Order: sequence, then structure tokens, then C-alpha cells
Amino acid sequence: MKVAVFSAKRYDETHLRDFNREHDHELTFFEPRLNVKTAPLASGHDAVCCFVNDILDAPVLELLAQMGVRLVAMRCAGFNNVDLVAAGRLGIEVVRVPEYSPHAVAEHAVALILDLNRNIHRAFNRVREHDYSLDGLLGFDLYGKTVGVVGTGKIGATFARLMVGFGCRVLAYDPRVNPDVTDMGAEYVSLERLWAESDVISLHCPLMEATHHIVDDAAIAQMKRGVMLINTSRGALVDTRAVIDGLKRGDIGYLGLDVYEEEADLFFEDFSNHVLQDDVFARLLTFPNVIITGHQAFFTREALDAIASVTLTNISAFEQGDPTRRYTVTL
Ligand code: NAI
Repeated sequence: MKVAVFSAKRYDETHLRDFNREHDHELTFFEPRLNVKTAPLASGHDAVCCFVNDILDAPVLELLAQMGVRLVAMRCAGFNNVDLVAAGRLGIEVVRVPEYSPHAVAEHAVALILDLNRNIHRAFNRVREHDYSLDGLLGFDLYGKTVGVVGTGKIGATFARLMVGFGCRVLAYDPRVNPDVTDMGAEYVSLERLWAESDVISLHCPLMEATHHIVDDAAIAQMKRGVMLINTSRGALVDTRAVIDGLKRGDIGYLGLDVYEEEADLFFEDFSNHVLQDDVFARLLTFPNVIITGHQAFFTREALDAIASVTLTNISAFEQGDPTRRYTVTL
């Protein structure tokens, strides 16, 4: 099939080309994100291959359908940026990579926790300046602490297991109980109890209407003072302004983000020669107890291999009309 690959970085191209030797699709790589302006680049292609910040709303999907695009192949797990109702109406199928490496994201969440707790980011700079003082670097033992996991699907369950390994008490919240998580000794509780009892809270649920700003002023008010909040899932799970207020008051003691509400205009690009225009993001960067990574939790060799392999298999299975070998997103 002829596939237009949007938001294509060099690493996407390398991995997709490598795995495409087994599939032989015609791949065209476009650096821009997909949106109404860039959609015409898909002309002459049967499918588009997209990532987390591409825009696949109704107007874009309508343009794609007019150009004869029949398949949207997401090379990620999340699909909150796709209007599935419009896709269904237009006869465009949406496929995704439901699982590529839950370990990649879960381990990144742990990296943020340890970095924040032990002030590794500050220690790194101090030692480079030959400053070996320890003032301000005091951490806490993770062992014995209570960790709240919101969303216990593939990534949340993997993260919960890592926390059990650290000797933590794990509380979980998910409308769907995952028996693997109860088997490892975690306890499902109400969201209110999770907020109230956790020393560390990590978000692993998808972004949907029900989870939009799941961490807002009201949620923060129920949390332990000095709580550590980690979000490696989707930016809009967190009301950033509420979190900034919480940080200023000291109610939130540590914040680790791999995702940000308004990341679409920032992440995955080099803006080091530009003036930052996002004042909310700029404020976040001023806190010594905030670490932000630019949506890199998924970014391991193993994950990129799996993403390329499953994406191309999805496309081949669509071409061959084989529903058993592709991961179609349904409403
Ligand atoms: P999954 O589908 O296996 O698990 C999601 C879980 O969230 C399910 O158990 C579901 O029941 C639960 N859930 C649904 N509504 C909920 C609610 N209102 N409150 C709490 N839990 C709720 O998904 P997976 O693979 O574990 O991924 C989770 C999220 O991680 C994705 O939706 C995506 O947004 C994010 N992600 C981030 C990456 C990164 O690089 N930072 C990479 C991959 C995924």
C-alpha cells in the first residue's frame, strides 16, 4: 500500500524502513504533523501513518477520505487525537499498536520518581561545578511508601509490579479490576482513598472525557501534603494551572511529567534558539522539584522495533482483508 507517514523523525524512518523489508509497502515520510494544512500531502496514498500529536479530527478525516485514504495506522497506543465517529462515518479504518513495551513507559515513570526523590538532576549539575554539598538533596526511602496507580492496564500493571518490587504498598484505581494487579498484592480503592493515602501517585489511564483533568484543584485538595505526582500518560489528565498552584503552596512536593497539556506545539522539536511562548510551561520549568521530559517514555529500542513491526503488520493485514492480524480501534 502507499502510506504517507506524518510527524516522521529519522528514527521512525530507520525503524519503519527496516521492518518494511518484510512487507514492501511504499512509504513516504513527511516531517510535518498532520493537520488541515498538511493533509494534502497524503494525496495519492491509501493510508496515513500517524503519531500522538497529529490531528485527526473530522475536517482532516474528511480531506483524507476525499483523497481516497482508507486507513489510519496509528504508530502508538493512544488514539485520543482521532475522531472515531467521523472515521466510522467516512469508512476510514483506524488501527493502532495497543502494546509495544509497557516496560518502556513504566520504567520511565520509575526513573522520574527516583530522579525527583534523590534530586539526581540537581546533583548532576552540582558535581559538574565541583559542589559536593548535600544541602537540599535529602530524599526519602521509597520502601514502605504508599504508591497510587490510576489506571491498571498494561502499563499501570507493569508499573505497579515495579513498585511492589521496591517494597511499596500499592493502591490502585481503575473501573476494571485487573486480577494480575490484585495477585501482586495491590489493593483496589476508590479514587478518593487513593488521593488521600498515597505518597506517590502515577497516572496510567487513557485520556477521555471522564479522565480529562482527573487531577484538578479538588483532587489536589484531597492529596497528602507534599505528594509526588507522576504523569507519563497524557497531558490533559492534569490541570496544569491547578498543579502549579499546588506546587506554589507546597501541597504538591514533586512533579514528574513526560506529557503536557499543550505539548503539541512544543515536544519532539528543537526550539533551543526560540523564545518560549508558553507562560504556563515556562512557570513549570522554574520549580526545582519539577522534572519534565518531552514525551520520551516510549522511546526505547525495543519499543521502536515493536511499533514498526506491529504498524506494518496492521497495514498488511488491512490490505489482505485479514481482521485477525490487525488491531482495529472500535468505538
Ligand atoms: P491500557 O488500555 O492497557 O490501560 C488503560 C487502563 O486505564 C485500563 O485498565 C482502563 O480500564 C483504565 N481506565 C479507563 N478509564 C479509567 C478511569 N476513568 N480511571 C482510571 N482508569 C481508567 O493502556 P496502556 O497501554 O496501559 O496505556 C495507558 C496510557 O499510557 C495510554 O492511554 C497512553 O495515553 C499512555 N502512553 C504514554 C506513552 C508515553 O510515551 N508517554 C506511551 C504509551 C502510552
